[in-house]
Amino acid sequence: MILVTGGAGFIGGNFVIDWLAQSVEPLINLDKLTYAGNLNTLKLLEGDARHHFVHGDISDRGLLGRLLAEHRPRAVINFAAESHVDRSIHGPDDFIQTNVVGTFNLLEAVRAYWQNLPADDKAAFRLLHVSTDEVYGTLAADDAPFAEIHAYAPNSPYSASKAASDHLVRAWHHTYGLPVLTTNCSNNYGPYHFPEKLIPLVILNALAGKPLPIYGDGQQIRDWLYVKDHCSAIRRVLEAGQLGETYNVGGWNEKANLEVVHTICALLDELQPRADGLSYAEQITFVQDRLGHDRRYAIDARKLERELGWKPTETFETGVRKTVEWYLGNSGWIANVTSGAYRDWVQQQYGV
Ligand code: NAD
Ligand code: DAU
Repeated sequence: MILVTGGAGFIGGNFVIDWLAQSVEPLINLDKLTYAGNLNTLKLLEGDARHHFVHGDISDRGLLGRLLAEHRPRAVINFAAESHVDRSIHGPDDFIQTNVVGTFNLLEAVRAYWQNLPADDKAAFRLLHVSTDEVYGTLAADDAPFAEIHAYAPNSPYSASKAASDHLVRAWHHTYGLPVLTTNCSNNYGPYHFPEKLIPLVILNALAGKPLPIYGDGQQIRDWLYVKDHCSAIRRVLEAGQLGETYNVGGWNEKANLEVVHTICALLDELQPRADGLSYAEQITFVQDRLGHDRRYAIDARKLERELGWKPTETFETGVRKTVEWYLGNSGWIANVTSGAYRDWVQQQYGV
């Protein structure tokens, strides 16, 4: 089996669902259930004995040690993180605690387990660390996209904490020989995305008749990847990646934020028009810019294609249509997230 951390979040949740749809191999899903973790995302898996959920923190080395000893996974995939840049600006503590200290504790627990595995299991074991393109900092309009050799230059508390975690993972490979793989992916979007991030926020605000907040001039560029394509890239790297290597994951979909928001408004105009006949674009509102806002991210994903044969299946146009349709068709999940009811359940169940 494999052990996944952060599998009740956006990407981890999609990964767990997709994994169990395409493999018979069971998985343990360790998640702290922060505000971003939501077991409703995993409702489809209720009654599936291959999905073993454990409520816990990657910083809890004792718990990790017990889980590893009991279940003896062949791989660990680390999604667990604080992931929202704006939150990291307002309160960086949790980012340092989970992304840096948590990754350190995970590495130490995994190292202790891996060191004592029988030779064949030891050789086959992998730790895959899921990271971000934000570690590379920002690009000017005419710069080449980030390749794996691009120097790290993180600009936000979030990206600095992710960069620190990547460095720890690299060092544990170089120093102790821990068999690690790292992926650095661009902006994801798709089902189960928490509505603090641009795309789900805009869809839900539009439908609720609220303003669609555009930071600064809206000309910042992000490189968008449909989350299911990210999940397939992770599976491919886990299967065939070279130990100690990093792989950039992206969809060659650079878009300015304002263009993304207009695309969503046009889709909503088509699929669920406003009662007054006006476009949802009427709700666009320019607001104060994010502090230290990175201007442009773009990923050069050629290494992953050349060496491991991975390519995304969705274009931005196909992926964003699927995403808008998913939000229109999943009012139960949305109501639960927006009302915060899922947090009440976590409090009741786990007392946190
Ligand atoms: P998310 O915020 O939606 O989910 C994070 C999950 O981790 C939640 O379920 C949360 O409960 C859990 N978690 C947080 N702290 C934990 C801890 N200490 N112990 C155990 N679980 C904990 O994040 P996401 O968008 O799904 O991102 C997943 C990973 O992918 C992160 O490492 C992020 O840096 C990386 N990433 C995200 C994107 C993106 O566009 N969202 C792009 C590239 C890389
Ligand atoms: O690049 C990968 C990263 O993408 C991941 O590592 C992060 O975990 C993920 O959150 C995401 O970071 P961004 O900051 O790029 O995503 P966000 O959705 O917060 O913002 C996307 C862009 O939209 C960014 O330029 C800020 C802008 N924005 C965002 C919000 C929430 C707005 O203009 N208005 C908004 O209300």
